[in-house]
Amino acid sequence: MAIRNIVIEGDPILRKHCRPVDKVDDRIRGILEDMLETLHDTGGVGIAAPQVGIMRRMFIAEPEPGEVYYMINPEILEMSGSEEAEEGCLSVPGYAGLVERATYVKIKALDIDGSERILETEGWAARVIQHENDHLDGILYIDKAKDIREIEDEPDAEEGE
Ligand code: NI
Repeated sequence: MAIRNIVIEGDPILRKHCRPVDKVDDRIRGILEDMLETLHDTGGVGIAAPQVGIMRRMFIAEPEPGEVYYMINPEILEMSGSEEAEEGCLSVPGYAGLVERATYVKIKALDIDGSERILETEGWAARVIQHENDHLDGILYIDKAKDIREIEDEPDAEEGE
């Protein structure tokens, strides 16, 4: 495993649409392992492949420590409700903003073993999944946020995605 560099906002890579993963093989699993290590190194709660320069439709969400979801070729099946909460992003360091998101998300994706899973999530986990899924279509939370504010550089206080 290795820690990868995070692509920072302003790089056109973050604005591109990612292509589906053809096959969940060892190469893909290796990238996901690196992404998880990179996520843990940063203390974030989610990371999408384009944030490490891989233009494939996959991300990891870890809304609570140890609660890791690998999402490969994800497809949101249902969304409902609406609530505002603050988000940050590993690719937009030093900032946070209020974003309106669905409170409930039902999502279908391949897991790291290549099997199809359907996950129903609410609240914070649903928010992290929506944020990461947006990255696969070149969308950043700052496109949707209001009241973007600078946050102090306190490593423990950051909740980047
Ligand atoms: Ni992000």
